[in-house]
Amino acid sequence: MSGAFIKAAVIGHPVRHSKSPLIHNYWIEKYALQGSYEAIDLAPVDLAFGIKRLIEEGYSGFNLTVPHKEAAMGLCNEIEEAALRIGAVNTLVVEETGRIRGLNTDSYGFTANIAQKKPGFFMSGKTALVLGAGGAARAVIDGLRAHEVSRILLTNRTREKALALAAGAQDIEVILWEEKDKALAAVEILINTTSLGMSGQPPLTIDLKHLPAEALVSDIVYAPLMTPLLQEAQMRGNPAVTGIGMLLHQARPAFEAWFGVLPDVDETLERMVLR
Ligand code: ATR
Repeated sequence: MSGAFIKAAVIGHPVRHSKSPLIHNYWIEKYALQGSYEAIDLAPVDLAFGIKRLIEEGYSGFNLTVPHKEAAMGLCNEIEEAALRIGAVNTLVVEETGRIRGLNTDSYGFTANIAQKKPGFFMSGKTALVLGAGGAARAVIDGLRAHEVSRILLTNRTREKALALAAGAQDIEVILWEEKDKALAAVEILINTTSLGMSGQPPLTIDLKHLPAEALVSDIVYAPLMTPLLQEAQMRGNPAVTGIGMLLHQARPAFEAWFGVLPDVDETLERMVLR
């Protein structure tokens, strides 16, 4: 590493809620690196020009959050495989040549979180049920495939969105939203990727009675940390994985791409982000 000062930022609209500055600045300090990480609000119409200007000002790393993850693909000179599969980028790396490389680290975040929290749990050959069909579901499905899940059941309130996500995929079976409770009997990994259960949102209505006792339950919602879904899973004795780790782990490969250090997710960071 050259030891140069590295400027990075998360770009969103709105962006003030973002936990990313807390995470990356914690690591900059922990690993005694020279750099800064801010939150910058850019409206969609300003994205291309805004990023160009920030690069001219010396920024070399960006995270993208809502609503920029798809549009930012158009700014990249090169897009990594995972981002192409998911159809969105959450990280930009500005090379010394000025070329922009786009990455998507969300599926890594999902699987690395489960690996850290449940190290003995292996996804290979298992059947998963994914609730929701938005951007988060795409990333989760990519992670499930990377870990060789054999079958993916997918359900969404708006069935058309689930069908569009599953189009052409041999390993995904779309089931009716109303039939998810019944389907649980065959499920070994259950993931909520909807906003249901988040503070201020309606609850997720699901009856876990048919879910096998060893099935892992994961929620991408992390406010509250223990969603009603995770509480119920834990009460039944199912392994339950909270959503905060996906946020923390997705940040690691981005930080590594900019700073050359793959940082750890430790308890201090987790506590800080949850405060
Ligand atoms: P993200 O990128 O985080 O996945 P998104 O694309 O807005 O966000 O997707 C949100 C998901 O939560 C969708 O699957 C959405 O279902 P619809 O496609 O039917 O909108 C789901 N969701 C949000 N509110 C919901 C509700 N009240 N009931 C059921 N599903 C809901």
